[in-house]
Amino acid sequence: MKVLIATEKPFAKIAVDGIRKEIEAAGYELALLEKYTDKAQLLDAVKDANAIIIRSDIIDNEVLDAAKELKIVVRAGAGYDNVDLEAATAHGVCVMNTPGQNSNAVAELAFGLMIMAVRNFYDGKSGTELMGKKLGIHAYGNVGRNVARIAKGIGMEIYAYDAYCPKEAMEADGIIPVNTAEELYEKCNVVSLHIPATAETKNSINYELVNRMPKNGLLVNTARKEVINEADLLRLMHDRPDLKYVTDIMPVHHAEFAEQCPGRYFSTPKKMGAQTAEANINAGIAAAKQIVGFLKDGCERFRVNKK
Ligand SMILES: NC(=O)c1ccc[n+]([C@@H]2O[C@H](COP(=O)([O-])OP(=O)(O)OC[C@H]3O[C@@H](n4cnc5c(N)ncnc54)[C@H](O)[C@@H]3O)[C@@H](O)[C@H]2O)c1
Repeated sequence: MKVLIATEKPFAKIAVDGIRKEIEAAGYELALLEKYTDKAQLLDAVKDANAIIIRSDIIDNEVLDAAKELKIVVRAGAGYDNVDLEAATAHGVCVMNTPGQNSNAVAELAFGLMIMAVRNFYDGKSGTELMGKKLGIHAYGNVGRNVARIAKGIGMEIYAYDAYCPKEAMEADGIIPVNTAEELYEKCNVVSLHIPATAETKNSINYELVNRMPKNGLLVNTARKEVINEADLLRLMHDRPDLKYVTDIMPVHHAEFAEQCPGRYFSTPKKMGAQTAEANINAGIAAAKQIVGFLKDGCERFRVNKK
């Protein structure tokens, strides 16, 4: 069995070493395609792979067509919108993610962005503190739960809205559940986004919703750019000069945000949330273990596409 690591943005060496250990201990062979610059390189590398570990790499119909021996693709990370799930199902390929492995890294970055924003991007002027402020966690999944844990230490009042997570689970963590996204935005000084990009959530963070935030509201996005209705948010930030937006996913309209909202907007130059040594290692090794479990025992825990 051949397992391919196909990473345009490579794993840290220590993570590759860890993956190799798992794969070789199972008696499989490990192949590496790193920093590829052309899709043709990927199409060639996948030809004889039985399993592929990827990061933000695109697995589309063409790649699946080329990968004749492929049984499983594991996205080392949480979001898997870079994989064409329907095409994978049509090709009989199992797709998994490695949920939870980078959640703390993303949650810590959310607070990095939050503190930078409430301290006016370190421009020398007096800022505000997070302690005592109301934090709205929009989606109480793996990252959302880590955000809640950190927010408790800071002393924030924590609210959460999740369309699918039972309220009891939030209450058990000492979080105040609300019934709708609208209620969350109305109540909270800071809203931190942790929804996935789905048909339901794309463009859902719009003028009407964010405009419900109280004066001096702060929106933090470490989720996905697609969930933001950028035209709406730009218009709202023009109409509401009190609002701030900080994001780990550079908007398509980054230049307009930067120009029109000086001192109220920041984007990381590229997605940094999961970019820590720890997350890198955890997600890579989890991916390797899931591949071994799948190939040896048929374990499909963390499968994200239909059969
Ligand atoms: N910035 C980064 O580098 C980075 C890294 C990891 C993940 N992410 C993003 O963060 C998102 C969250 O990651 P996670 O690990 O917490 O995922 P997760 O799957 O553990 O949690 C997602 C949560 O969203 C909820 N949800 C789904 N649709 C919803 C809706 N319409 N309204 C409200 N809640 C809804 C689900 O019930 C679930 O609890 C990922 O989907 C990914 O897009 C970004």
